[in-house]
Amino acid sequence: MYTLKHYQESALYLKDKLGKFTPEVLLILGSGLGFLAEEVENPIFVKYGDIPHFRSSSAPGHAGRFVAGVFEGKNVLAMQGRLHLYEGYSPEESAYPVRVANLVGADKLLLTCACGGVNTDYKVGDLVLMTDYINFTHPSLLAGYAGSAFDLTGFENRFFDMSKAFDTDYRKLAHDVANTQKIPLHEGVYFYTTGPQYETPAEIRAIRTLGGDLVGMSAVHETLMARRCNMRVTGFGLVTNMAAGVLDQPLSEEEVLTEAKNAAPRFSALVRGVVKGL
Ligand code: HPA
Repeated sequence: MYTLKHYQESALYLKDKLGKFTPEVLLILGSGLGFLAEEVENPIFVKYGDIPHFRSSSAPGHAGRFVAGVFEGKNVLAMQGRLHLYEGYSPEESAYPVRVANLVGADKLLLTCACGGVNTDYKVGDLVLMTDYINFTHPSLLAGYAGSAFDLTGFENRFFDMSKAFDTDYRKLAHDVANTQKIPLHEGVYFYTTGPQYETPAEIRAIRTLGGDLVGMSAVHETLMARRCNMRVTGFGLVTNMAAGVLDQPLSEEEVLTEAKNAAPRFSALVRGVVKGL
């Protein structure tokens, strides 16, 4: 378990590397979507592996570094690659970079991820604004000492309100950007699974019954940590494949990365427009 001191030591190292640059927006870019970080102006690169206490990213399409710089006029810290539970990390480890980013100045989070489409109104290539999430996996990254006499986490109360995980003003902004640029944008609930295996068709039917529109293996721990740090959050899913059992075909990592590439121009336009207005 990390203590506040770990986060502060990581932040100190990152701050030193960033010099006078203070990020405002944390951008977390999912599978095959890391290309956006290459479009940051005057980039400063910091490898996760060089930061004290940091874990590294091993997922395909994930470079494993921060890219800091100006993007659409905003000071951003982009995560080119994230840390997943399927790599063997705990929820707290996977969300660790979010709290560090907050300590170096970021108070907004825009996250993106590749998802399976559970809602049958969706099709491959669709972009979906997250309105909420469902995480029935355990334990919470907040489980442990928070709020107890032994608290070393720096968080005060143990029981934390998540009734507005995703920011409602940013939701309106995202739709305004999508309408102006004529980019179709759905809304939906993100259902979290740990992976790395894709779901079974029966699991997908259950997820649909429970209210999930999208299914994916990231986003929720980062969102929880960001909200815990009082950051405002917006999240976008790209439907890289229809979820298991929707179509009569197997799911593959290759399809996910190919579809992420195909959606790049639309996805980039949407994220750029939203970042500008955050
Ligand atoms: N399930 C879980 N995660 C995913 C999927 C999926 O179908 N596609 C991309 N990420």
